[in-house]
Amino acid sequence: MIPKKSNKTVNYIITGGAGFIGSHLARYLVGQGHSVGIIDNLSTGNLSNISDIKDKISFYKLDILDGTIEDVIKNSDGIFHHAALVSVPESFVKPIEYENVNVLGTENIFRLAKKFHIKTVFASSSSVYGNTKNIPTPESEPLDPVNPYGITKLKAEYLAKEYSKHCDIVGLRYYNVYGNTMVSSGTGVISQFYQSIQNHTPLTIDRNGEQLRDFVHVQDIVQATVSAMEKNTGSGFINIGSGSTMSILNLANLFIKYSGSNLQPILREQKEGNVLASQADVSLAKKLLSWQPQTTLEDWIKNLYKS
Ligand SMILES: NC(=O)c1ccc[n+]([C@@H]2O[C@H](COP(=O)([O-])OP(=O)(O)OC[C@H]3O[C@@H](n4cnc5c(N)ncnc54)[C@H](O)[C@@H]3O)[C@@H](O)[C@H]2O)c1
Repeated sequence: MIPKKSNKTVNYIITGGAGFIGSHLARYLVGQGHSVGIIDNLSTGNLSNISDIKDKISFYKLDILDGTIEDVIKNSDGIFHHAALVSVPESFVKPIEYENVNVLGTENIFRLAKKFHIKTVFASSSSVYGNTKNIPTPESEPLDPVNPYGITKLKAEYLAKEYSKHCDIVGLRYYNVYGNTMVSSGTGVISQFYQSIQNHTPLTIDRNGEQLRDFVHVQDIVQATVSAMEKNTGSGFINIGSGSTMSILNLANLFIKYSGSNLQPILREQKEGNVLASQADVSLAKKLLSWQPQTTLEDWIKNLYKS
């Protein structure tokens, strides 16, 4: 456990707490009785994601690049760093913005973690691996990202290595995260398929749909993330995925099947910067975090369309 500085609860800061994963994390921690402060500039996040817990958290509309976050962070017991720009296609268009937020912004967080000796768990990404040949992929695999977003996450990991000489920093390499609150965001293949079904437009698939992805439910992500904060793992990087894969074509067919739609998938050119296969080796997460993913993608899709 993190040493408690406050009387009853642990004071946690979540950067990016108004986003998809950060808001689920905040809700869970509040439910456990902890005191939670959220730092978010609302660039892609939304207060509606945390409206149900707004009276139980402290919200700071601040940028992670802003020096004033020091005052918010300095008395905390643990930092969950999730603020980032997260779209692979957009990272090709705005590489400097991605570099500023995901690399310099992250360094600002690590700098404060070092200054005040605060344990930090941060969201890295499976995108650091790129087109790896070793599937399922262990953490020891060479890192070779194929898009600017992945490059910023790798640079953040290099920074984590340097700063972790002074305080514990754990980087979690999340795979493709899904959950109910992201289906209407338009980001990622799950949301796109969901919206296609809603709007009765064809489900578009890159290439032949045989690309494999490891999809992991946001509640499983929350459990792993909290465990990484609470357990004495030391610093390092840990894969957090389901450990299994599904092809994009199979995913489209499951959406069609459980929604009762008669739409057919259509194929299009591969978008740049996408890998062919991605699957986590989750042995390290199981060992260090005593963690095991609980939700399967097919069950979740089935439940999504249960009337
Ligand atoms: N969702 C996934 O599948 C996935 C996979 C791998 C890694 N990750 C990582 O997990 C983290 C959370 O991802 P998400 O899916 O919840 O994304 P999200 O876009 O929903 O959340 C990111 C949050 O960060 C905030 N933010 C962005 N720039 C900021 C800045 N400069 N200052 C303060 N706040 C800022 C946004 O407003 C948003 O609320 C990110 O670091 C992302 O790279 C996500």
